[in-house]
Amino acid sequence: AQTRTGVLAEPVYNYDEAKVGDLTLPDLLRTTAGKQVTSRADWAARRAELLQLFAENVYGKTPAQPVRLQFQTTSIQQNALNGLAIRKQVSIVFTDYPKLPPIEVLIYVPKNAAKPAPVFMGLNFCGNHCVSPEADIPLSTRWVDNAIGEVSVNNRATEKSRGMQERRWPIDTILKRGYALVTAYYGDIEPDHKTGWRSGIRSVLGDTARYNGPQDSQWGAIGAWAWGMSRIMDYIQTDPALDARRVVLMGHSRIGKAAVWAGVQDERIAAVISNESGEGGAALSRRWYGETVERVNTSFPHWFTGRYKTFNQRVADLPVDQHELLALVAPRPLYVASADGDQWSDPKGEFMGALYAEPAYKLYGKTGLGVTTFPGLNQSVGQTVRYHNRTGKHDVTNYDWAQYLRFADELVR
Ligand code: GCU
Repeated sequence: AQTRTGVLAEPVYNYDEAKVGDLTLPDLLRTTAGKQVTSRADWAARRAELLQLFAENVYGKTPAQPVRLQFQTTSIQQNALNGLAIRKQVSIVFTDYPKLPPIEVLIYVPKNAAKPAPVFMGLNFCGNHCVSPEADIPLSTRWVDNAIGEVSVNNRATEKSRGMQERRWPIDTILKRGYALVTAYYGDIEPDHKTGWRSGIRSVLGDTARYNGPQDSQWGAIGAWAWGMSRIMDYIQTDPALDARRVVLMGHSRIGKAAVWAGVQDERIAAVISNESGEGGAALSRRWYGETVERVNTSFPHWFTGRYKTFNQRVADLPVDQHELLALVAPRPLYVASADGDQWSDPKGEFMGALYAEPAYKLYGKTGLGVTTFPGLNQSVGQTVRYHNRTGKHDVTNYDWAQYLRFADELVR
């Protein structure tokens, strides 16, 4: 661990609980003007204020202008996965921006289930071909990180990457439980590197002339990925096989940060799952443990807005903290998950983020987490807000999915 003050050669992180320090959090239910929130009507105004504060200081402002889309079905397979599902591939084409590549959406709808089917939706890390066991899914042609499993060459996917992250998406299990799965590659919206914005949606939307100036509130890549999730929601609303009112948005890690930001902005999304989203996701920023604001801003300068970097060395001055972001999901169901072997994401900080969102749920007469002590390993706790800290490393496992399916069965169906 390193000290929190002074100029550091290495960006900071900390694994020493003794150094976590003071945790005075901004009060969720007190407006910037000092007014105490006591009713749902007050909360509506506070909610709008918090959304704006997160946009200005953390993720950047999501351009509000509507964008014309075309949904082009490129293939339908009536007997996918040995007859378990109907598989569809749909391109979300940006009518006004022909140079932008489309978002390629992969959809599995269970055949033997009620229609329209409730949906698990989520972006994937390495292309649709990576998460499906089916060999006829076209390889993604977009930029991919060469570091991903060493199966890309010159930042393009190779045949070797087929099915590589299948384990993270137990498609058969999801379908057999009666849910559809809708997924797309996050790099279709913006390639995940410092200059990736030049070939993604941020090259045409927002103030494209002045990215990441030190003080500005331009949107970052996380904002762009979140925006893309909402465009997939636009598609879901048009597909009669999918129940747009029962979409559970799941995101892991950096995509988990984006999923929470999408879920708070887009109230069409019925429930949100943050899987190990860590710093800038579910974990409290003021808890100086694991990855820190300074560290994430230094390693990934393109993720957040320029102004977020001005808080690197003075996190206590941030007008918000992440429990207030999670609170914006209320009254909808929220699942926050950690892994014990992923201290980088700060499991305790993620638990506290979920815990301190409670007052917002209370305003709706709901119980959020409903417990205040950090649970033992592999124990799913909570009510409308749930939490677990499983054994194992930074990943998405069958244990995680078993909890998410039960959560969706109980709270979304
Ligand atoms: C890095 C990064 C995290 C992020 C993670 C991921 O570890 O520091 O903030 O969540 O990558 O996306 O897997």
